[in-house]
Amino acid sequence: MRYFFTVAIGTIFLLIIYNGYQKDFGNSSTFPVDHEQTGLSDQIIIRFSHIVAENTPKGLAANKFAELIEEKTDGQIKVEVYPNGMLYSDDTEMQALQDGDIQMIAPSFSKLTAINPDWQVLDLPFLFNDYDDVKNIFTGDVGQFLLEDLDENNIKGLTFWSNGFKQMTSKNHALITPDDFKEVKVRTMPSAILIKQFLSLGAEPSTASFDQVFSILENSKIDAQENTLSNIYTKGFHQVQDYLTISNHGFLGYAVLMNEDFWNKLSPNLQSQVLEAIEETTIWNISQSEQMNNDTLTKLQQIETLSIHTLSADEQEEWQKKFEHLYEFYENDINLNLIEMIREEINR
Ligand code: LMR
Repeated sequence: MRYFFTVAIGTIFLLIIYNGYQKDFGNSSTFPVDHEQTGLSDQIIIRFSHIVAENTPKGLAANKFAELIEEKTDGQIKVEVYPNGMLYSDDTEMQALQDGDIQMIAPSFSKLTAINPDWQVLDLPFLFNDYDDVKNIFTGDVGQFLLEDLDENNIKGLTFWSNGFKQMTSKNHALITPDDFKEVKVRTMPSAILIKQFLSLGAEPSTASFDQVFSILENSKIDAQENTLSNIYTKGFHQVQDYLTISNHGFLGYAVLMNEDFWNKLSPNLQSQVLEAIEETTIWNISQSEQMNNDTLTKLQQIETLSIHTLSADEQEEWQKKFEHLYEFYENDINLNLIEMIREEINR
């Protein structure tokens, strides 16, 4: 009898301990810790989820940041990078970040416009002339203002990374003049400005998440899409599209974001090491992304089934005229102040 009594009490005791452990493990208020590492029981794991291939400007920057932060903190912070949307798609990663299920993401600007319409400014066509403009905006007051704007959403904005200038691919004919866009079905990212951009050319825009783009192009559910050369090449869009227009009409960049509760729990010392590693990565990323897009153009030029046209200055101007009203819309309806700040920073 005494034996059974002892076993019963022991079992209840073990259940209470196990239950407490389970609760603590699933609690997003604790750091994810790598329990398999011996001697590193206080090692902090950052799960960094992104949706593009590893061999792209964002993929490489995420890996570089992981390397740098591990080095700077002597392994106290370890970044696990999950590429290709293997954890979350672009539709779900923002919520996962806010809920603390992952600690870092780097969505494109367009995907932040739902949280804060101010971000639409970075989707305006022909906003940046070159990578110097990009650098000025990323590292200046406008960049700071946009990142700080995210605070109230439990998001710590850390920096901007570059992918590159956007180009057009299409299936049935080349997209060279604005008239070529009439009734062409185009995939866009979810951003009101991008939708308006294609409507002003007479196209039929629709949004789709990045992981669906290849299949909707392949099944001819859409005819065309805009993206950077590195995204086009690494996701094989050129295999299901016959025409590429080098238009440089827009810019694809990323906001590098951390869950804010997670950020607040890092010691001041770790926070400054994270910022240092991020800053070094950003400087490297801007020139690396330019180089990568140039190299990718060379690879695409060797593909015989792909016909490539580079817009002349006059052709670009024709597109630009069609887009003027988008600037008026942004100034009148979204944030006049921000667009004035951008003009100043770009002309610096
Ligand atoms: C897209 O959806 O086309 C891009 O945002 C993908 C990316 O993150 O580069």
